[in-house]
Amino acid sequence: MPHAKSTDIVVTPLQHDTNKKTNFGAIITGVDLNELDEESFQKLRTAVYTNNVVIIKGQKDLLPSKQFDLVRRFDPDCKPSHGFGYGKSTAELGPTGKKPFYLIPDSGGVTLVGNGYQGPDHYGLKEVTMSGFSHTDFNCEPLSEEQLAAGHAKFVHFHFDGIMYDSHPSRVTTFRCVKQPKGPEVTLHVGDEAGSTMKVQPGSTAFINCAQIYDLLTEEEKKIADNSYWEPAPHPFGWSGTRMMTSNGLGVAPGGETVPLDKLPHWEADKVFKYPLVWLNPVTGEKGFQIMPQCVRKLYLRSSPDEEVREVEDPEEIRVWLNGIHERIVKPEYILVPSCEEDDMVVWNNWGITHSAIEYPPSYGTRAMHQCHIASSTAPLGPTPVPA
Ligand SMILES: [Fe+2]
Repeated sequence: MPHAKSTDIVVTPLQHDTNKKTNFGAIITGVDLNELDEESFQKLRTAVYTNNVVIIKGQKDLLPSKQFDLVRRFDPDCKPSHGFGYGKSTAELGPTGKKPFYLIPDSGGVTLVGNGYQGPDHYGLKEVTMSGFSHTDFNCEPLSEEQLAAGHAKFVHFHFDGIMYDSHPSRVTTFRCVKQPKGPEVTLHVGDEAGSTMKVQPGSTAFINCAQIYDLLTEEEKKIADNSYWEPAPHPFGWSGTRMMTSNGLGVAPGGETVPLDKLPHWEADKVFKYPLVWLNPVTGEKGFQIMPQCVRKLYLRSSPDEEVREVEDPEEIRVWLNGIHERIVKPEYILVPSCEEDDMVVWNNWGITHSAIEYPPSYGTRAMHQCHIASSTAPLGPTPVPA
């Protein structure tokens, strides 16, 4: 679709089933991301922040370098490289550090993620065979090999994209679907009290709207959320040590040990940033409750800007408080697992969404996705400033 214009862009919000409470997501057509003029980009940017997750159809010929350019346009002052630190290990990144990063040559900072054999030459990557992330590295109650092979799955782990040390999370993440596995729907075990399951397309990603988490807070909790902030540990995913996630992939499970701060790879206190508990959507101003429980070493709680801050360092108090909030949202009615087809480009507001991969049986074949996020040049803003 050469020379597409902004007037060609059609944004269609997803129609959710009547049993769903999800209020986000849209399909976009009429975009050529290889030739995106400024007016079209602005229209797309507004659509991303208004709908939080968008699926842009028809991007078969998208060049990886143009995908990278797209992410940069959301943050022109960013340092142009992929948001994950290359060469880092499990000591910094936890289980995520187990997997090699497959940077697509000459892309600027687009990585190949997926599963299975990627062919003799995938955009310059030769003879790559991948294994995707597994919930068994994170979940306190993992499924068996047999259950996985039979098409059962759990969330790998909910997160937003960023290493959270000396680096702010990316403003948006992009994910182009190059190859989808083929097979029956996967039975996703949600991990809620009701024991709910969802049938989902194999090779898909789950999204939760952090604005909907905020909406589920009590009025008193909203006051606390609006005025409080949190601090990740240095190298937080490594620091999280032997702790595991709860069955729903969003909470920290009881037990396990964090790594003592003096046993972590080198770190500096001024590279550990504090973040608001509530992040404002850059376009709509909507409030989202945005925190990764597995990263949090300290909470700084207060109900108004004038109140004295209560510092909470007890991991059990942090764990129980956050789990109590997050358990309200990890239910089928709030979880969006959009249909994603080959040649689709998914773009989401990484400052307003938390997401998780969902495994599928390797027998369904190769999955190939081109993924890009870039550390933001600025921190997200909350309703009240975070003291330095
Ligand atoms: Fe991610």
